[in-house]
Amino acid sequence: MERLDKLLAATGQWSRKEAKALIKSGRVKVAGELPAGPEEKIPEGAAVTVDGRPILTEKYVYIMLHKPAGVISSTEDPREETVLSLLPRELRRIGLFPVGRLDKDTEGLLLLTNDGPLAHQLLAPGKHVDKVYYVEVDGQLDQADGEAFRAGITLGDGTVCLPAELELLPPGDRGLVTLREGKYHQVKRMLASRGKPVVYLKRLSMGPLELDRGLPPGRWRMLTPAERASLGR
Ligand code: URA
Repeated sequence: MERLDKLLAATGQWSRKEAKALIKSGRVKVAGELPAGPEEKIPEGAAVTVDGRPILTEKYVYIMLHKPAGVISSTEDPREETVLSLLPRELRRIGLFPVGRLDKDTEGLLLLTNDGPLAHQLLAPGKHVDKVYYVEVDGQLDQADGEAFRAGITLGDGTVCLPAELELLPPGDRGLVTLREGKYHQVKRMLASRGKPVVYLKRLSMGPLELDRGLPPGRWRMLTPAERASLGR
C-alpha cells in the first residue's frame, strides 16, 4: 500500500505538490471512484487514472523492447540515442535500465526493468541463463565451428568461453548461437576467432523470455502476466 500522492509523484510526471493539487481537482480516480484525498492508501496494481488515462501503480515495470540497430543499451548518453529514448516520457523517469547490453549494431530482445533483484538473477555470473542469438557471418559456418563452440572457444586475448552451441542454418552463412554467459562482444569475438566475422546479430531469447515476433524493431510492450510468471514475477 502506498499513499496516492506519493504514487503519482513516483511516476516522475508530477511533483508531490502537483500530485496533491491534481487529486484535489478531481482529475484522479481510483478504480473509477474519486479518492478520499492525497493520503488515501492504494494497493499495488490498483487501477489509477488521471483524466481517464491509466497510471502505472506497480512498484516494478517489465518491458520487452525490440532493440533496433543504431541505439545504445544505456540509460543516458550526451551524444547517442539510447534505448530509453524509445520509450514514452513517463516511462523514462522511473529508473528503468536494460538487463544486459546489446551492441549498438545488434538488434533484438532487450528487457528493461527497474527490478534490480531480477536483473541480478538473470545476469549474475554463475546463473548461466541461456541467451539465443541469430547470427550471419562473412564466410561459411561448418561442423568444426560447432565442435569448437561445444568445446569452449578461446578468444583472441586468451579468455576461455564456457561451452556454447552453434546450430547451422542454410545456406551456411548463418546460425543460432546459444550462450550461457555474457562477455563483452562475445558472439562477435567467438566467431572472429574462427575467422568468420559477424555481419548481422539479433538476440532472440533470454532465459524463458522470447522476442515477440509481432514486435517490429524499435517497438516495445509490457511483459504479459505469463512472461512475468516465467521470470518468477
Ligand atoms: N555478443 C555480441 O558480440 N554482441 C552483442 O550485442 C551480444 C552478444
